[in-house]
Amino acid sequence: MSTIATNEKIPNNVNLAGDRKLQRALEKWQPHFLEWWKEMGPEGFQADNIFLRTAISADAKGWAHFDHVKMPDYRWGIFLADAVEGRTIGFGDDYGKPVWQEVPGEYRNTLRRLIVTQGDTEPASVEQQRLLGQTCPSLYDLRNLFQVNVEEGRHLWAMVYLLHMYFGRDGREEADALLERRSGNADNPRILGAFNAPIDDWLSFFMFTYFTDRDGKYQLLALSESAFDPLSRTTRFMLTEEAHHMFVGETGILRMVQRAAEIMNEHPGEDPRKYGVIDLPTLQRYVNFWFSISLDLFGGEISSNAATYFASGIKGRAKESKHEDHVALEQIMRMDVPKDGKIVSEEVPLRNAMNEVLRSEYVEDSQRGLNKFNRLLVEMGIDFALELPSTRFNRQVGLYEGLRFDPQGNLVSEDDWKTNEKNWLPNDSDREYVKSLMTEAVHEPGKIANWIAPPKHGIKGKPFEYEYVRFD
Ligand SMILES: [Fe+2]
Ligand SMILES: [Fe+2]
Repeated sequence: MSTIATNEKIPNNVNLAGDRKLQRALEKWQPHFLEWWKEMGPEGFQADNIFLRTAISADAKGWAHFDHVKMPDYRWGIFLADAVEGRTIGFGDDYGKPVWQEVPGEYRNTLRRLIVTQGDTEPASVEQQRLLGQTCPSLYDLRNLFQVNVEEGRHLWAMVYLLHMYFGRDGREEADALLERRSGNADNPRILGAFNAPIDDWLSFFMFTYFTDRDGKYQLLALSESAFDPLSRTTRFMLTEEAHHMFVGETGILRMVQRAAEIMNEHPGEDPRKYGVIDLPTLQRYVNFWFSISLDLFGGEISSNAATYFASGIKGRAKESKHEDHVALEQIMRMDVPKDGKIVSEEVPLRNAMNEVLRSEYVEDSQRGLNKFNRLLVEMGIDFALELPSTRFNRQVGLYEGLRFDPQGNLVSEDDWKTNEKNWLPNDSDREYVKSLMTEAVHEPGKIANWIAPPKHGIKGKPFEYEYVRFD
């Protein structure tokens, strides 16, 4: 089991003290990170004490330590999952050969770009969410938001460690640039489009943590199979933190669904909006939006880049060991491809379909939560089911880009789209209504905003009424 140095400036389990040059470089980066955090992290709460979970050890039971801390004092550090003795490459052309402890020269640029792109999403999401604290529905939710934020900050550390350790001078420059780009900035935006729009209402926050963080989970699962062992160990540890982010999203949506259903039962036949809750058709439109833009993050359905990543061992499939053939040279995947105004089924060599393989697993995983929401609706006697739209709906990347599909996946005309868009995607009145529900923060322990139900359980055995945030 790896030991962890928590008394150092940078908590770590990578024996940072044994590499003075690297330690000095990261200790130089650290104050810039803190400046970034204070400028771009949650606005208005830096002096308050938050009941946070901090990693104090990288093994399963040791790392979840809970305490009230001020966010700038959070112990951001570098934690890798333990090395797997004798680990070999799990897929691609070099299947079965030993994994890499250093970056092979020919893959240096590709790996660096992957790490930078992943790393860039971490601070981006903190920036997107920086104003949310000002309209929190409860102290419990406020605490969860900050937990997600500090962990995204730690994920940035995870990627910066790899850049500093394995990519020399250009790695250090990339690490600096990660603190310079800003979500939504016209001159120097974050790399991926989806990370440049502010997330300034809690409905969007729960949708983001449900759908977009789940993309993160699948990217991390694919990278944790990487032949580049330090990347594999880093992402394996990140996955343990990511699980909590999706818990926040799933239970957040579930609690909004519950609240809508309660009001529908109390006031049958009336518009739930009259009673200050988010009606189910609005929730459906937000699902349509967040699901579709998160699908884009997986990249094109047919991708030669994805084939190269797989062939070279850089990026595998989620849980590669579940698959039988790890070379994937002989297999094909069937895909629905638009051709001359119709959708036809085509065969694609499996390696070129790796983005779609990962996306399909994501879709299945996304459906699981929806089944839970729908079970609750059935239990509460409500005749409504939330659905994932077709993966063709509202896509800006890949095969379906530039075409119009309804949520069932049928091709529609531009006119049809224009007529129905307001029923399929969040419209101005939805956004205005959601905003109107979230104009102030609920800061009293045990109190909660009207539009969401309280959670079933508190955190770490504490009740919902616990003072999860202590104000300065
Ligand atoms: Fe993350
Ligand atoms: Fe996350």
